[in-house]
Amino acid sequence: MAKILVTGGTGLIGKHLCKLLKNRGHFVTVLSRSRTENPLSFYWNINENYIDNEAITNTDYIIHLAGAGIADKRWTSARKKILINSRVDSTNLLFRKVKELNPTLKGFIAASGIGYYGSLTSEKVFSENDNSGNDFLATICKLWEKESLSFQNENIRTVILRTGIVLSKKGGALDKIMKPIKLGVGAAIGSGKQFMPWISIEDLCNMYVEAIENKTINGIYNAVAPEHITNKGFTKTIAKFVKKPLWLPNIPSFVLKIVLGELSIILLEGSRVSSRKIENTGFKFKHSTLNSFFSQLF
Ligand SMILES: NC(=O)c1ccc[n+]([C@@H]2O[C@H](COP(=O)([O-])OP(=O)(O)OC[C@H]3O[C@@H](n4cnc5c(N)ncnc54)[C@H](OP(=O)(O)O)[C@@H]3O)[C@@H](O)[C@H]2O)c1
Repeated sequence: MAKILVTGGTGLIGKHLCKLLKNRGHFVTVLSRSRTENPLSFYWNINENYIDNEAITNTDYIIHLAGAGIADKRWTSARKKILINSRVDSTNLLFRKVKELNPTLKGFIAASGIGYYGSLTSEKVFSENDNSGNDFLATICKLWEKESLSFQNENIRTVILRTGIVLSKKGGALDKIMKPIKLGVGAAIGSGKQFMPWISIEDLCNMYVEAIENKTINGIYNAVAPEHITNKGFTKTIAKFVKKPLWLPNIPSFVLKIVLGELSIILLEGSRVSSRKIENTGFKFKHSTLNSFFSQLF
């Protein structure tokens, strides 16, 4: 049994993960921007450099998921600051508190995104040793990972999961993707040729558990399903499962650019990302293909 503090434990991934960790017998606490009566929930305020000390002194592992939603709002310059600070400053605050309070931290496990490789459409299969891209999302991931790796520099086992689109039965991106298709007005986006690296929430949370329990896991891993699927393939697969025809032409790129601005890039571009490194550790996916994921959903 390990004592595990989860930042962003109230979010989509966090809720699922906390439940799984508890079921496996771990003692789980969360770090949140909201104060609650729950004795297992601690408070932090990143702008004020504040964390309840007990959150840090009483933990073996930190899982750092907190961050403002990347696709929640248009990327204005104010929003960009929030997206960066909620990840980079929060990691830096955790690091400074760990240095100050000196708990016997056994590991720091952090989220990152496959946006690290840059938003571009190509046939290249990106793996963990590839360079980062230069666009906004790649820059966030680079800064975020650099901050997380401060823990590694202190000889604390550090694992970073570069995560693809997380598919969950409830909430997250899938609800938004499925809505128009269910209504019979779905269509592929832009060229439809952009890849959409994805992972089921079950597999992602199992990967976090593995990162805690398997001490040989160390460093950066892509958290994506082995299947490489394009936006067109993804859209067709959903339409097949919800039994709706796809009759509309692709949604033109310029429409998304007008509606979403710079944020549209995450829908319009995408490359293949390799899952080989995590598979080489012995990790087995429950859902390697979208067909497998949707079969349990419908
Ligand atoms: N879901 C995906 O498809 C996906 C893909 C790639 C990477 N990721 C990364 O994985 C992490 C977790 O994702 P998720 O989908 O579970 O996110 P989520 O549902 O949006 O939850 C994130 C949590 O972070 C905290 N948070 C929100 N805004 C914040 C801010 N401005 N400053 C500090 N904390 C803030 C919130 O917790 P409190 O309100 O309790 O503080 C929230 O519950 C994120 O860092 C995300 O970028 C997710």
